[in-house]
Amino acid sequence: MQEELKNIESCAIEDIKNTNTSEEIDKVRVKYLGKKGELTKVLRGMGKLSSEQRPIIGKIANIVRENIEQSIVSRINNIKQEELNNRLKGEVIDVTMPGQKITLGKKHPITQSMDDLIGIFTKMGFKVVEGPEVESVYYNFEALNAAKNHPSRDMSDTFYIDENTILRTQTSPVQVRTMEKTKPPIRIISPGRCFRNDTPDATHTPMFHQLEGLVVDKGITLGDLKGTLEVFAKYFFGSQTKIKFRPHYFPFTEPSAEVDATCFKCVGKGCSLCKGSGWIELLGAGMVHPNVLKNCNIDPEIYSGFAFGMGIDRLTMMKYGIDDIRLFYENDMRFLNQF
Ligand code: PHE
Repeated sequence: MQEELKNIESCAIEDIKNTNTSEEIDKVRVKYLGKKGELTKVLRGMGKLSSEQRPIIGKIANIVRENIEQSIVSRINNIKQEELNNRLKGEVIDVTMPGQKITLGKKHPITQSMDDLIGIFTKMGFKVVEGPEVESVYYNFEALNAAKNHPSRDMSDTFYIDENTILRTQTSPVQVRTMEKTKPPIRIISPGRCFRNDTPDATHTPMFHQLEGLVVDKGITLGDLKGTLEVFAKYFFGSQTKIKFRPHYFPFTEPSAEVDATCFKCVGKGCSLCKGSGWIELLGAGMVHPNVLKNCNIDPEIYSGFAFGMGIDRLTMMKYGIDDIRLFYENDMRFLNQF
């Protein structure tokens, strides 16, 4: 019996050595120490032993059981350690690996231009003022001296919400809103969205951006307007830029002009961008019409002023050589990422 016990011990220890997982070691435990296990079977036969032999064999059996249990515990610990090591190996972090690039958003080219323009004019002492996009016919046309039969008032040119309410077609109503509320001296710019009932094509979208400028004070002259716009053009397009005034008509300014700048691409020589003329149209401008001043309770005998309005989309197209305004509003990342 002694021999049998020793045999069980060495078999068990051999089996334990060969286990690799917690489940395997559990099976070994049941095989030797379980209710129907090998050791248990032997111990059941002890009743047949003589009273001298029984304690001796009992002692040996206990030692064998302890040895088996001990080697199971130490194998379990090893297996757990191995399992942990394997898991850690699988989770190794390579700190030398290059990081994942996070793409940051950036400003839309129109917003960039708007910020550039605001930067230029605020340095010259202009304040930024905003006005509503849903505007009254009074502020968009009437107070700006636009005759009842002015073509821009047509349904085909302007989005009407009702008879007296429209989407503003220009930023000029902000002139009136400001003059009504503020006593001169006034020196403001007003950037923002405008809307016209246009079918989209390479140079028109029903929504676009303008920046309006207004200065009202005692003794303001056309010379002040010219100087201001010259500084603006040089900052925006480059220091070699020159400007010229062409007579024009706007209901709210008198005299009125369209202002051209020397083509920034060919510097006045003539190229495809300026269609060979050397000049490109920049904006509309003029001296504030006395009727508009009167509409805002400013005495035209005491005060005078100038105003100008430019298309931000147009200026941005010229600056970057973009030939289709619709590209600004298609949200194609291949286009937008170039700016
Ligand atoms: N509001 C005019 C337009 O949209 C531009 C302009 C503004 C002209 C101010 C003169 C003075 O065409």
